Amino acid sequence: MNLRLARTYLVDLYKLGAGEKYIKVPTSELAAFFGVSQQSASRILQELFEMELIDKRNVDRTLWVRLTDKGLAEVDDYIRYINDAYERPGRFFFRGVVVTGLGEGAYYMSRKGYVIQFERLLGFTPYPGTLNLKLNEPYYVYQNRLLRKLRGLHIKGFRTKERVFGDVRAFRALIQSKIEGAVIYAERSIYGFDMLEVIAPVYLRDALKLRDGDVVEVEVYINESR
Ligand code: CDP
Repeated sequence: MNLRLARTYLVDLYKLGAGEKYIKVPTSELAAFFGVSQQSASRILQELFEMELIDKRNVDRTLWVRLTDKGLAEVDDYIRYINDAYERPGRFFFRGVVVTGLGEGAYYMSRKGYVIQFERLLGFTPYPGTLNLKLNEPYYVYQNRLLRKLRGLHIKGFRTKERVFGDVRAFRALIQSKIEGAVIYAERSIYGFDMLEVIAPVYLRDALKLRDGDVVEVEVYINESR
């Protein structure tokens, strides 16, 4: 069973009270609640157990189940995602901490081949560099993974005599509710999903008085980035 499906059953179990304590559930009742056969209900419980999302015990031929901490975390993330979908349609929200990167952003962001495309697609000349935001919450890392699956604005890679520069994708974003910039994903990025790379027409450390360790909020607009 994939996690997406597992989450819906976890919410059902949570609804029945299995988030707080072990609950007694006749499989026939659970089957009716899940909307599946009794056999399927048993299989679902077994799979959730194998995924370490629930704990189950048999006491005197009665089945008791409870969500594990991992299962509870999945329910939390799922509910958060649903709320977020409802409250921010078409937008992704991130909160990250300013960190200093490897100092390569300035080099890439000042390549003529990229600059002219950024100007054309975003309507501004980016400050030469990227502001790196470290995403410490698993929820934002997951969001970043999701956002990265979307297409966004396509900045084509190019080659010079020396080397090849990869494709970049960009999403328009509002930084600290003040400055319009973009989040970028370099095809050949050295960073993982726990890093968000932000560009803007201005030097953000000055404009927003930022230092390493400061928390920055970024709202990304998906539909303005197609
Ligand atoms: O050294 P690092 O990889 O973090 O940075 P960079 O991409 O070479 O950018 C140079 C510096 O400008 C870094 O301190 C960035 O955080 C900062 N920056 C900024 O404040 N505003 C921007 N729009 C872009 C970069």
